[in-house]
Amino acid sequence: MTERIRFFLPGPSYVTERVRNAMTAPVIGHRSAPFKQLYRSLQAPLQRVVRTEGDVLLACASATLVMESAVVSTVRRAVLHCTCGAFAERWLEISKIHGFEADELSAPWGEAIDPELLRQTLRRKVYDAVTITHNETSTGVLNPLAELAAVVREESEALILVDCVSGLGGAPFENDAWGVDIALAGTQKALAVPPGLVAFTFSERARAQAARKRRRGFYTDLLRYVSYHEKDGTITTPPIPLLFALQNQLEAIEAEGIENRWQRHRELRTRTERWAAEGGFSYASSANHGSPTVSCLRPPAGISAPDLVAGLAERDFTVGGGYGRWKPDTFRIGHMGEVRIEDLDALFEEIHAVTESMTVVHTA
Ligand SMILES: Cc1ncc(COP(=O)(O)O)c(C=O)c1O
Repeated sequence: MTERIRFFLPGPSYVTERVRNAMTAPVIGHRSAPFKQLYRSLQAPLQRVVRTEGDVLLACASATLVMESAVVSTVRRAVLHCTCGAFAERWLEISKIHGFEADELSAPWGEAIDPELLRQTLRRKVYDAVTITHNETSTGVLNPLAELAAVVREESEALILVDCVSGLGGAPFENDAWGVDIALAGTQKALAVPPGLVAFTFSERARAQAARKRRRGFYTDLLRYVSYHEKDGTITTPPIPLLFALQNQLEAIEAEGIENRWQRHRELRTRTERWAAEGGFSYASSANHGSPTVSCLRPPAGISAPDLVAGLAERDFTVGGGYGRWKPDTFRIGHMGEVRIEDLDALFEEIHAVTESMTVVHTA
């Protein structure tokens, strides 16, 4: 790819010109034969990204809708939320709003969920579902999902609901091998499609549990998505240009190969770690669980994170600010989607230029 990227938000991520152009195709009817063909064409490449032999369904929304739908469709009484940052806490909040017995297994911000603590928690109470955030975007922590999912399977009958919003397409993920029941991801992160679509899986046992639940809402009823999926359609009028974008971007992902893509993201993380160590930046999260898609960093002493973000914006480079309670002290580099090492290197040069100018102002 020849485009140079100056946009490093931890989502939405940079969208290539090719994908942007795909969205200019004329709109087609969403129950028409060409649409059904378009919808069908997405299935196999999405299955290869999510690593499933089952269906990959599409919701026309942002990811939070499917977080809500997953619990509304399947939880009858109790749900355990594994939390280690703001997005996992959002899922907990959703369950509380719906009046479920919503318990929390929390790790401190910057740490990952401990599989042994999860095991002990599951031995104390029966849950309809356990939610896990694979890649916590607020802190840049990648949870050990394979291990956590194995613990849930060993200890309980609970469904495994996974938010892989900022991991999918960048961090290794194995829907079927890890026994995930619902995995959901907005397409605007490591998949590098504009926001507005959510891809999700929905296992047979999750469907059976949903079928036993009487009130699942309308937009939040995941079984409704299945019946439209069977007819190659979405439950409501979809953002058709986004489906063209997804089709086009999946071609690019297929051309790269999902495992090569995971490897590229690992290299982006390693490059960022090396640069951070050399420049006096420190990771805000535990080194053991570093995310391949998001680095959450504290600047060197004397440099304000919000000022650094603003200084970069003046130079037309975009990084993410800190999130929630970490807003004042951290900033986040999204090295996801189509970002290459050369793009990161250019960003690092700009960061040095900005921090140098800030140091000069401080000492003047
Ligand atoms: C891990 C994670 N989960 C959920 C969300 C919510 O996604 P959306 O804004 O698409 O609803 C985000 C958004 O940044 C996220 O990073």
